[in-house]
Amino acid sequence: MSTLVVYFSFDGNTKFIAEIIAKTMNADIIELKTSKQYPTEGFSKYFWGGKSVIFGDKPKLINDHIDLNPYETILIGTPVWAGSYTPPIKSFIHQYELQGKRIALFASHAGGGAEKCFAKLKVTS
Ligand SMILES: Cc1cc2nc3c(=O)[nH]c(=O)nc-3n(C[C@H](O)[C@H](O)[C@H](O)COP(=O)(O)O)c2cc1C
Repeated sequence: MSTLVVYFSFDGNTKFIAEIIAKTMNADIIELKTSKQYPTEGFSKYFWGGKSVIFGDKPKLINDHIDLNPYETILIGTPVWAGSYTPPIKSFIHQYELQGKRIALFASHAGGGAEKCFAKLKVTS
């Protein structure tokens, strides 16, 4: 059965992991992209990123429509932002029907919060 890796990555760490997972599992891979541009440096990067998590932003995804029908298993990857998953992942799980799929989660972080992030993602999805 086919597997899809869907991920968001801001600085490349999650992308690095996602590509290794996809290659190892012979899975398809899709990087989520948004029209919203977050500041890439300094305090603003953390402020705007953290703020959009806290306010529950669901930025518009600019990917072409993703056909999930061929996939039995979907691996979702995200950086940890403010102890949670990133807004583009929120957009994805709200936009797409994941009922009946086998879901696995992976995250990269700078020191902690992955368990909390996974717990929130499980509740949401
Ligand atoms: C807005 C923002 C918030 C973050 N919040 C956390 C956090 O709560 N806990 C943590 O361990 N790392 C946090 N980080 C660090 C990222 O999770 C870490 O650098 C991650 O590997 C980045 O993945 P990426 O390179 O795929 O974007 C944060 C980074 C940003 C930009």
